Amino acid sequence: MQAMTATYNDKVVKQFAIATVLWGIVGMLVGVIVATQLYWPHLFEGIPWLSYGRLRPLHTNAVIFAFGGSALMATSLYVVQRTSHVRLLSDKLAAFVFWGWQAVIVAAAITLPLGITQSKEYAELEWPIDILITVVWVAYAVLFFGTIARRKVTHIYVANWFYGAFIIAVALLHVVNNLALPSTLTKSYSLYSGAVDAMVQWWYGHNAVGFFLTAGFLGMMYYFVPKQAGRPIYSYRLSIVHFWALIAVYMWAGPHHLMYTALPDWAQSLGMVFSLILLAPSWGGAINGIMTLSGVWHKLRTDPILKFLIVSLSFYMMSTFEGPMMSIKTVNSLSHYTDWTIGHVHSGALGWVAMISIGSIYSLLPRMFSLKEMWSTRLVDVHFWIHTIGVVFYIAAMWIAGVMQGLMWRATNADGTLTYTFVEALNATYPYYLARLVGGLMVLSGMFLMAWNVYKTWAMAKSPAEQPVLAPDPSQARA
Ligand code: HEM
Ligand code: HEM
Repeated sequence: MQAMTATYNDKVVKQFAIATVLWGIVGMLVGVIVATQLYWPHLFEGIPWLSYGRLRPLHTNAVIFAFGGSALMATSLYVVQRTSHVRLLSDKLAAFVFWGWQAVIVAAAITLPLGITQSKEYAELEWPIDILITVVWVAYAVLFFGTIARRKVTHIYVANWFYGAFIIAVALLHVVNNLALPSTLTKSYSLYSGAVDAMVQWWYGHNAVGFFLTAGFLGMMYYFVPKQAGRPIYSYRLSIVHFWALIAVYMWAGPHHLMYTALPDWAQSLGMVFSLILLAPSWGGAINGIMTLSGVWHKLRTDPILKFLIVSLSFYMMSTFEGPMMSIKTVNSLSHYTDWTIGHVHSGALGWVAMISIGSIYSLLPRMFSLKEMWSTRLVDVHFWIHTIGVVFYIAAMWIAGVMQGLMWRATNADGTLTYTFVEALNATYPYYLARLVGGLMVLSGMFLMAWNVYKTWAMAKSPAEQPVLAPDPSQARA
């Protein structure tokens, strides 16, 4: 039946695209609420399920897995069909992946405010939800790789290599880090303990950054930057070197989260060295994306979608320069525990992850509806500026606050006593928390503009028919 219709399955892509915008708003709204709580600590006082400790993991789970995850699934399922010149392996499996992933998100949104947690950062969800995640993830892997196996072209485009690595690595990380002994439906005990637990957790945590928050988004870069610029990728050879170098190096950098802890010293140094090496593939990849604009730089003046994509790469370069610097033990002794880390996180998360996702969804939607552009390009431009200025506000505030905190905490008097009390450092931080809140509100309002624009674009498309599968170029076709 699929061969007869020979169209792409865009239903699941649309569903995930809408979910991206929706969960983006929810996750960032919770981000704004926790930012407000840091400025007004008495907000929601006495309501346990709205306390900072419960809302913070809700924020991280919502933005990473609901917003980021939906963007990754929307784009990967769009890209794999277009670059393989086939429909997805199975419509039923696609529907299962969408609804299964939404079920995971809803389960997280209920259990985290109730305080049900494994207490492992970015892996807070309890064992029944972990099992559901595993089942949905395997289904997603079968759908993605099954589609690649049926491709009508000989080679596998590099974007799919990145998406594929993201899918395999996340499966591995999730299963290993969540091995636990359940005692009740809502409580389990990790199989690991002590320093081993910490090492496994940060092997997971760092590679969640490397594979969930980076590799898949590089897949987006390799498809949507050339598409939007109307140019082939700057260097296909560099993209292959980029892929293998990134995959080989990321796995070893996790110990930089555990500097000056009970972890053996050699492991900490190993983490630092691999983090420094990581600068090279990260910048190589970003340069490959940015240089794709060679000869068409002028398009940046008129195309706000391209601006989103290219500025996201600048933020990616910024955070992957900053990360290796923070991995140097002496620098980490200043930055750790301070808001500098939060600044680094959000230059990666809001600058890189959110901007490449937003740009890719803006790029994909009109194409999928056979429209020339979004309902309002002007509104995309406004979104670009409000987002960019908001991010700069956020991260600049956190950098200044972070360095200031680090310096105040370590300042000593001639007699060896501390120059500042902790409360003095906290007081000095307040204005920066307010600046971060303003930045966060700007980013959030941009998401509302996006939702309106997406709604109007969809309405404009009237009854969008599924697009026919394009025949591959004969020189590329499989025999
Ligand atoms: C409106 C936008 C956002 C605001 C206002 C916001 C705000 C916050 C706040 C206040 C925290 C807690 C900081 C602390 O504990 O001191 C936080 C943590 C975090 N946020 Fe966001 N956030 C936003 C968007 C995002 C996005 C889009 C992502 C990811 C794609 C993200 C990822 C994270 C992560 C990973 C942490 C934990 C950082 C750590 O533990 O070091 N945030 N955010
Ligand atoms: C070359 C690449 C990178 C390196 C070497 C690196 C290194 C680091 C270091 C040293 C820390 C501080 C650890 C600590 O003191 O606790 C950190 C924290 C973090 N980084 Fe990066 N980073 C890189 C890129 C990125 C990117 C692109 C993102 C986001 C998209 C990101 C997200 C995070 C998060 C979420 C944390 C906070 C983890 C936590 O404590 O909860 N990093 N990174």
